[in-house]
Amino acid sequence: MSRLFRVKPMSHLHAEAGEEGEHTLKRSLGALNLVTLGIGAIIGAGIFVLTGKAAALHAGPAVALSFVLAGIVCAFAGLCYAEFASIIPIAGSAYTYGYATLGELVAWIIGWDLVLEYAFGAATVAAGWSGYLNSFLQQLHIYMPPRLTAVPGTNLYFYQEKWQPLNALPHGLNLAALPHVTAAFNLVAMIGVLLITAVLVIGIKESANFNSAIVIVKLGIVGVFLVVGGGFLLSHPSLAWHNWHPFIPPVDANGNFGLMGIATGASSIFFAYIGFDAVSTAAQEAKNPKRDMPIGILGSLVVCTILYILVSTVLTGLVNYTQLNVADPVALGIDATGVGWGSLLVKLGAVFGLATVMLVMLLGQSRVFFSMSRDGLLPKWFSAVHPKFRTPWKSTILVGVIVAIMPAFKDIDFLSDLVNIGTLLAFTIVCAGVWVLRVRHPEMERPFKTPFVPAVPILGIVTALFVMSRLPRVTWEVMIGWLLIGLVIYFGYSVRHSKVQKMKHANEA
Ligand code: ALA
Repeated sequence: MSRLFRVKPMSHLHAEAGEEGEHTLKRSLGALNLVTLGIGAIIGAGIFVLTGKAAALHAGPAVALSFVLAGIVCAFAGLCYAEFASIIPIAGSAYTYGYATLGELVAWIIGWDLVLEYAFGAATVAAGWSGYLNSFLQQLHIYMPPRLTAVPGTNLYFYQEKWQPLNALPHGLNLAALPHVTAAFNLVAMIGVLLITAVLVIGIKESANFNSAIVIVKLGIVGVFLVVGGGFLLSHPSLAWHNWHPFIPPVDANGNFGLMGIATGASSIFFAYIGFDAVSTAAQEAKNPKRDMPIGILGSLVVCTILYILVSTVLTGLVNYTQLNVADPVALGIDATGVGWGSLLVKLGAVFGLATVMLVMLLGQSRVFFSMSRDGLLPKWFSAVHPKFRTPWKSTILVGVIVAIMPAFKDIDFLSDLVNIGTLLAFTIVCAGVWVLRVRHPEMERPFKTPFVPAVPILGIVTALFVMSRLPRVTWEVMIGWLLIGLVIYFGYSVRHSKVQKMKHANEA
């Protein structure tokens, strides 16, 4: 039994971190690259899509407070991630931290759980990305074959020069009079994922440069929204006053809104913050990970928290929250200012913005598999490094192909909650790990120290569990089922191939 809780010795982790040569990942990322990598992963479907739904269904204008609450949960976890990333600059993120502190079984559980975050997260974002791309092109009167733009069985109607799903059409239309197709599969989402996979195989530096360029575009567009929208509100204060009152709508007949509505809103827009932790998966590719990982993790988190609070405040000022349950709320918001080119620009920003989110999620997933394979918990194949590109190309391609198939055939909107629960579980384990390591190895050199231990890790765990408790029951059930499948693989394969286990046996023999 105790062997399931064997930890990976710190000396091994440091030796791995110091490895060089053609079979290792290339160290080319500086602090700014890491901050932009984080922002690239964070700003995406959450702010561009889920904010509107959370305001309309759960929190009203107080969705801004949902962002504050979720930001606080992430800040606690981010401080813990930063400490770990500074002492264990290895590619595996929460998985590696769990291995070093809580033992192999817990590490496996986190590694498996991170698939929910990264692979399913990338697939979820890919579906949103294809929707925005399609909407953008249709606004320019460029039409892709509609049958190849949505999941099988989706009914699309041609109305106001756009192919639209039923729920986007106004009530009372004579549908029989509209041209109509039933979608076969979402080829657009599939192609998007495969293109990003190709970029990731070619190289980490190329991927980071691609990411940095797009992050600038994305931040620019968020900035335009804030300036145009904020300026409009300043010159129309009565509109803002009307839309922001009541700021916390009273609880309705279904139990939505009110103070608990803010918490439920936080559990749904939590998705918007996911990604800062993905910075830690690139630790082996950072030039100076001890100094730069905390900057990358906390810097990207701070920038995005501020932007989210501002965007959600301006958005609910421009459009009444009751009208925000749409696929493109930010575009709707800028339309309300009367700036004609606004929604086109926002859609373009979303197309680029979601692409970088996919990039970092896919990067994170292949790096987690890379680390698990190096430890013997997954077959060697997963850690094969391309001799020229120096990227884990085989696992990148495998992850890319699987992620590409998901949004092509399945409507995965409901998966954002699954991504949330998977990520929150990883957060609780990372917070616990920081505390455990402080107790077990107080002497260890910590280039970055989480302040107020154990208060911060405990608050991280409690707040993450609180937000998890607001997620639907079905999400919990699916997560538990997923973890059980993981345990079958662990006991069927990993425990017998684990390098840490083999090393112990060798030492004992
Ligand atoms: N934070 C990422 C997004 O909002 C996952 O799309």
